[in-house]
Amino acid sequence: MILKDKRILLIITGGIAAYKCLELIRRLREQGASVRPVMTEGAQKFITPLAVGALAADHVFTELFSREDEQDVGHIRLARDCDLVLVAPATANIMAKMASGLADDLASTVLLATDKPVLIAPAMNPKMWEAAPTKRNAETLRADGVHFVGPNKGEMAESSEAGVGRMAEPNEILAAVLHLMDNREKPLLGRKAIVTSGPTHEPIDPVRYIANRSSGKQGHAIAAALAALGADVTLVSGPVNISDPIGVRTIHVERAEEMRDAVLAALPVDIAVMVAAVADWRVERSQGEKIKKVPGEGPAPLTLTENPDILKTVGHHALRPKLVVGFAAETQSVIENARTKLKSKGADMIVANDVSAETGIMGGDRNAVRIISADGVDIWPDMSKEMVAEKLAAKIAAYFVIA
Ligand code: CTP
Repeated sequence: MILKDKRILLIITGGIAAYKCLELIRRLREQGASVRPVMTEGAQKFITPLAVGALAADHVFTELFSREDEQDVGHIRLARDCDLVLVAPATANIMAKMASGLADDLASTVLLATDKPVLIAPAMNPKMWEAAPTKRNAETLRADGVHFVGPNKGEMAESSEAGVGRMAEPNEILAAVLHLMDNREKPLLGRKAIVTSGPTHEPIDPVRYIANRSSGKQGHAIAAALAALGADVTLVSGPVNISDPIGVRTIHVERAEEMRDAVLAALPVDIAVMVAAVADWRVERSQGEKIKKVPGEGPAPLTLTENPDILKTVGHHALRPKLVVGFAAETQSVIENARTKLKSKGADMIVANDVSAETGIMGGDRNAVRIISADGVDIWPDMSKEMVAEKLAAKIAAYFVIA
């Protein structure tokens, strides 16, 4: 856990996005961080110190001239006794104060007094974000070394207005925190990767579809592991019940054809890891209306047609990534079949696993894989899917160090 024992001073300022902080506090603490909250007066109009304090399991600091707090912690210690100062949401007002060095409440005083890295997640109306003073302030803050996450494009809470100004999602803020606090080596920095994950759903009619047992756990873990090594990762995921991995751009699709389109749109990349259990076939003519039972008639036959082979398409593409990794789900002759797939799909590496029902791999938490490449076969013992992901990401990174 990268955030284990890390102390984050979370400054919450007054914006409707403050409600997302409650989720953010949970996510930060799940990663091992401790969160010490500071709330401005404005923030307290949107969420209560009681809720924030309960989730953070710490005292919530609100007053600059609080006798108790000053004796106990003091604003200077508050500013220094942490590893990161995070401002989320950061209003146009706090940005203006920070840019001009104003210190007229606890939040702005702490921000002026700190010698720790500062990350801000701006949130405001698009017109305020685009306003010349805010632009100037953002530029000043960047030049002062303040880190930014967001704002994002999207609909505003208070109106039907759309534009740039939405606070980054808790997941994205967490990713930015992880990125700043992670001092491990990043051998894949500057490399782009695309990963497919999960099953595809091929519609029969509006309510029925063909699917498989893939959970997306292995593909999602690989996307996260590549991102942790610094890669810029796009994950194209079929329908799964797990959350989007941290630090990864996730595109959600349903059908194989949609997955192929999303993958091709992401090219060129350096690395492609195709983990998805793409349905080999789709229903030739899926129906727009629900297929009804007709009394006296048997079930309508389903005519299937082949889906595009995404790995094969990428493996033979004019913009073929430098490293193409495929998976092979087999129930027999695992290595032999994987070798055939290595050639036919134009891959550099095939990660083969035995998905016979008794292995429990499909949908389970563990995996036992064999890596087949031109160099031979590497047999890895049974381990968690996260560990497989980390080892595979390290192997991919090593490929680029040597290449
Ligand atoms: N794959 C793909 N597109 C498909 C089918 C498979 O991209 N339409 C990719 C998978 O993501 C995986 C690899 O091809 O990386 C092998 O998948 P697998 O299901 O083992 O092989 P198939 O090509 O489907 O062959 P078979 O089902 O006959 O074993």
